[in-house]
Amino acid sequence: MVERQVALVTGASSGFGLLTVIELAKAGYQVIATMRNLDKQGPLLEQAEKEQVRNQIVVWPLDVTDRAHIIRIPQKISETFQRLDVLVNNAGVSMGGFSEEISEQDWRTSMETNFFGVVFLTQACLPIMRQQQRGKIINISSVGGVVAFPGYSPYSASKFALEGFSESLRLEVAVYGIDVVLVEPGAYRTEIWSKGFSHIEHTSQADSPFRQPMQAVVSFGKLLTRQADQPIAVAKKIVLITQKRKPRLRYAMGKGAALAIALKSLLPWKIFEAVIIKQIHKK
Ligand SMILES: NC(=O)c1ccc[n+]([C@@H]2O[C@H](COP(=O)([O-])OP(=O)(O)OC[C@H]3O[C@@H](n4cnc5c(N)ncnc54)[C@H](OP(=O)(O)O)[C@@H]3O)[C@@H](O)[C@H]2O)c1
Repeated sequence: MVERQVALVTGASSGFGLLTVIELAKAGYQVIATMRNLDKQGPLLEQAEKEQVRNQIVVWPLDVTDRAHIIRIPQKISETFQRLDVLVNNAGVSMGGFSEEISEQDWRTSMETNFFGVVFLTQACLPIMRQQQRGKIINISSVGGVVAFPGYSPYSASKFALEGFSESLRLEVAVYGIDVVLVEPGAYRTEIWSKGFSHIEHTSQADSPFRQPMQAVVSFGKLLTRQADQPIAVAKKIVLITQKRKPRLRYAMGKGAALAIALKSLLPWKIFEAVIIKQIHKK
């Protein structure tokens, strides 16, 4: 068994995933960086060389929507490292649009990636953690997993599902020394936003009845990205969570995240929804 603690991160080709791999390695972990397309490993490896942690990182292929990939993971871990201390379920996509117009494919991609990908990889890794009687499963949710905004229903549906799954799982596995944690970031400067915008703008036709509110959603999203925080804060927080003896269930992070969550729970729903509807249906 390797002496270093071992962490596995999904979606390590960019954004939070890439930065989390580097920060975990800097904190002393042996890191299994996984990504669906190994052609994208260049930036991660470059950063790892720069930070002098290249020898603590292995890169494995993993498309979280592919059960055949997932099924191979536990055996690979057992053969290579014989332990898994931290699993960071980070891979995600942001599918949006107005619900009536979103294709079945987009609904399914959202759930397959952001929800079922987490469920099945977690199932595959749990036996190792249970045998060890220790482990941390950190699921990257979103403020959108607690507060659903218009124009992002597939994203919110998948993250709400992730929240419910994580709450349940935490209660199931605590007795085995396994902690389940949700990280709920607000807006951070990663590629997910540009991928999301270009996608949302293509879900509606020129004659769509949702053209105007869609533009309002996209403009608000662009404003959020311009003001977004740097993603390194999330990577550093994930490392801090791995080092906590008793981590909380939820960590909301970033500009506006805690506020949006608090407003939803404190304001009467009628007022809360009136404010949002007014914003996207401005004449
Ligand atoms: N940035 C934010 O403001 C924000 C806020 C709240 C929550 N989040 C969450 O943070 C997580 C990471 O996103 P990010 O912001 O860092 O964006 P990102 O840079 O776009 O990273 C997303 C990662 O997920 C990977 N991915 C997508 N589908 C996959 C699949 N089927 N199998 C394996 N990997 C897959 C992407 O790989 P490819 O490079 O191959 O596409 C990429 O590495 C997501 O779960 C997202 O929902 C982000």
